[in-house]
Amino acid sequence: MILIAGATGYIGRRVLKVLSEKDFSVRCLVRKPTIQKLDVLGIAKDANKNISYVTGDALNYNSLLAATDGIDVVYYFIHHMDSGKPEEGDKFDKLDRLAAENMARACRENKVRRIIYLGRICDPKEKLSLHLRSRKEVEDIIRASGIDYTIFRSSFIIGRGAAAFEILDSMVKKIPIIPIIDSDAAKVQPIFYKDAVKYLVDCLDKKETINKSFDIGGKDTLSYEKIIKRYAKELKIKRHYFRISTIPHWILAKVLSAISPVNANMVYWLTESLSNNMAAKLGDGEELKKIFGFEPLGFRESIVKILNENPS
Ligand SMILES: NC(=O)c1ccc[n+]([C@@H]2O[C@H](COP(=O)([O-])OP(=O)(O)OC[C@H]3O[C@@H](n4cnc5c(N)ncnc54)[C@H](OP(=O)(O)O)[C@@H]3O)[C@@H](O)[C@H]2O)c1
Repeated sequence: MILIAGATGYIGRRVLKVLSEKDFSVRCLVRKPTIQKLDVLGIAKDANKNISYVTGDALNYNSLLAATDGIDVVYYFIHHMDSGKPEEGDKFDKLDRLAAENMARACRENKVRRIIYLGRICDPKEKLSLHLRSRKEVEDIIRASGIDYTIFRSSFIIGRGAAAFEILDSMVKKIPIIPIIDSDAAKVQPIFYKDAVKYLVDCLDKKETINKSFDIGGKDTLSYEKIIKRYAKELKIKRHYFRISTIPHWILAKVLSAISPVNANMVYWLTESLSNNMAAKLGDGEELKKIFGFEPLGFRESIVKILNENPS
C-alpha cells in the first residue's frame, strides 16, 4: 500500500492519477475530509476501489502514525510555503521541518520501507533562498531517517497549474513591456511535468534508485530571460523588453501575485529564488537515462505539448 502525503497538491494529484491507472493501492493523506481537489483530475474515490483517504495533518505526529499504518511506500509532497504572512516576517521552514520529522518518525515506527520525495535542485555553495534551504533541509531529514529513500530534485516544472509556470504564463500574457533583471542571470533546467511524474512513479520498481538522489531536468538549461522570450515566441505574442539592474524582491512578488492565480505567499518565496542556479548535476542525466530508459523533453517540446493539452 502506498501513501501520498500532499495528495491534493500539484504533484500529488498527478502521481495519484498515474498510480491509479496502474491499479496500485493508494491511501491519500488529506487535511480536510474533501476530495474535491482530487476530483479535478477525475479521480473520485467511488470510481476507483484502490484509492482510499485518511484525514490527518503532518504537524500532528499521531495523525501520521495512523496514516502510515500498513504502508510500504510514502510519497512525500508536503510544504507550507503558502502559510503565514511573509511580509511580516513569518517563515514556513519551521513547519516544513516539523512535518518532515514527524513523517520520518511515523515511518520508522510503522516500518515503512521507502520514502520518495521531490524537492528542488540547488547548489549548496550558493547563498540559497529560504525556499531552497528548506527543501534541502527536508531532503536531509528524509535521508537521515533510517528509512530507504529515493530523492528527486527538479527546478521549474512546465505544466498548467504548476506555480512557476502559471507565473510565467501570466507575466507573458498580461505584461506588454517586460523587465529583464540583470542580477537574476541564474540558469535553470525546466522539466515537463509528465517526465517528472514518470520518474516518481517508475522508480517504484527500480531497485537502483533506492538510497539515491537525482537532479532531474529537461534537455535545456536556460536563463529566465530565455524562458520568457521563448515562451512569448511559442504563444506568438509580441512583447517589448527592457533591462533593469534589479527590482526589490517584495515589489516583484506583489506585481506577479496580482496578475497570476498563484497564492501570494508562494509567489513571494518563489521569486526569492530567482537568483539561485537550478541546473542538474553533471552525470545525473546519463545515469537516469540508463535506469529509466527515456530522456525528458526540452523546453520548446514541453511548451508545445502544454499548448495542445486540454486544461486540467
Ligand atoms: N509544483 C512545482 O512546480 C514544483 C517544482 C519543483 C519541485 N516541487 C516540489 O514538489 C513537492 C510538491 O510540490 P507541489 O507543487 O505539489 O505542492 P502544492 O501543490 O503546494 O501541494 C502541497 C501539498 O501539501 C499539503 N500540505 C501542506 N501542509 C500540510 C500538512 N500540515 N499536513 C498535510 N498536508 C499538508 C497540501 O494540502 P492542502 O490541499 O490541505 O493544502 C498539498 O496537498 C514539493 O516538495 C516541491 O518543492 C514542485
